[in-house]
Amino acid sequence: MLRVAVLASGRGSNLAALQACDDDAGFGIVGVFSDKPDSGALQHARDAGIHAQALVPGGYPNRESFDLAFFADVMQIQPDLIVCAGYMRIISAVALARLPVPMINIHPSLLPLYPGLHTHARALEAGDAEHGASVHLVTAELDGGPVIAQARVPVHADDDPTTLAARVLEREHHLLPASVALFARGRLKLHQGQPWLDGEPLAAPLQLHGGVLVQDGPDK
Ligand code: GRF
Repeated sequence: MLRVAVLASGRGSNLAALQACDDDAGFGIVGVFSDKPDSGALQHARDAGIHAQALVPGGYPNRESFDLAFFADVMQIQPDLIVCAGYMRIISAVALARLPVPMINIHPSLLPLYPGLHTHARALEAGDAEHGASVHLVTAELDGGPVIAQARVPVHADDDPTTLAARVLEREHHLLPASVALFARGRLKLHQGQPWLDGEPLAAPLQLHGGVLVQDGPDK
């Protein structure tokens, strides 16, 4: 069983989606960690009987010292994989360099498009015909690590950021568990910081078709 630690700052719907399929997919969520003590994600973890822990940045002199304390807590539960599911903090390079396990993040855009915030509004402003979400390795560059998998949705003429976000979020709830399942089954591994699938370097992000990740072609 792959031991997964989840980091989350918000409502925790991706956490709930992960937890809904963890046993079947060969992973278990062994802890949920947050910078926000009142987050929905922590409440979800408590309700589900999962180890839930908050650490607030306020008492630390800088980003680095907070991150080192935060990830010391995370590593205490001995995860094999760390999953950022709506963890809304930039993580310092020093803390990242010391992490002994891979860390992935889910981001609501088709990276490399729209790193950072307000992705749905930015896709609408650009007049994009499609939008989506990406699961990527976390590196020191914000939303800039190698992309593992993506889910695409059409943009409708009458969309606003809220309707578009809802369409993307529904796909996120399949994309993230499917991506973690690849690690759990031993199909996805890291070699020198790059994702490898089934013993080969991953040439392009996997694409979600229905609930399944495949190597070619967007989800139309
Ligand atoms: C998701 O849109 C995710 O892509 C982004 O933050 C949001 C978290 O939502 N990183 P939730 O807390 O999982 O509901």
